[in-house]
Amino acid sequence: MGTHRDSFDQRINHTLIIAMGIFALLFVYYALDFGVRGLSQDLSEETHLFTANTPLPNTAIFTHMLAGALITFLAPLQLFTPLRRRYPALHRASGYLFFTSAIFTAIAGLSFIAVNQTIGGPVMDIAFALYGLCVLVCSVQTVRFARARDFVTHREWALRIFVLAMGSWLYRMQYGVWFAVMGDTGIGENFSGPFDYFQDFAFFVPYLLGVEVYIRHQRAGRSLLPIHVTRGLSISAIILLGLGSYAFAPVFLA
Ligand code: HEM
Repeated sequence: MGTHRDSFDQRINHTLIIAMGIFALLFVYYALDFGVRGLSQDLSEETHLFTANTPLPNTAIFTHMLAGALITFLAPLQLFTPLRRRYPALHRASGYLFFTSAIFTAIAGLSFIAVNQTIGGPVMDIAFALYGLCVLVCSVQTVRFARARDFVTHREWALRIFVLAMGSWLYRMQYGVWFAVMGDTGIGENFSGPFDYFQDFAFFVPYLLGVEVYIRHQRAGRSLLPIHVTRGLSISAIILLGLGSYAFAPVFLA
């Protein structure tokens, strides 16, 4: 009975990771397309992120989108246990690719904040800079513990970098669900509404805290939540991500 239940719950976990990987492809496509166009065309009419005749900042922010797309794509693959077990060499190689891209994404994003500031003002500057620093620290720690062959600690840091890598996409998903349910209530011009300020931090801080609580329970050999609650949460997450993807699809595919 235990084994049957374990494999059922493993399947739910795998389904959540696969659903995240598939839903996130829309954002991966959006970021790749935006990045390639920003590197090859003049987008000054289309976005404040492009400034005519300043090749360096333009290259930084649009390459940032390409590298960001890569880590969003790779993160679910890195976490997916069957793939990792079956192809450990692939996990290692794509781990280094992920690491290099994550460091680049973060440094380019942080440089953009330092030079141009974000569209949302000081609160967004602080939140996104904190996010970038978390990405840097967690990427380094994940690789460091893998190289030291301390796989228990490696897995803990890998969970932290996973939620961070998916954070930029989760940011859009949370807007998508909010739009679908609340319309534009709480949303202000240039991200100055109460929901925008909440969002500045809500796409990574709660997930990091959730991972922290989970890790502490695992270390103590306790499971965090009753099994039916975990199942319910996983299924609700898949439904919400479907709703967020549906609401955001017109933006991603425009
Ligand atoms: C590593 C931490 C990251 C930092 C510090 C960061 C920072 C930034 C900043 C400051 C901007 C410009 C915001 C503005 O003023 O409009 C931006 C834009 C963008 N970033 Fe990141 N970012 C990070 C991770 C990611 C990731 C993982 C992706 C995944 C694809 C990503 C994709 C994008 C895209 C697509 C834009 C353009 C937004 C739009 O106008 O649609 N970023 N990022």
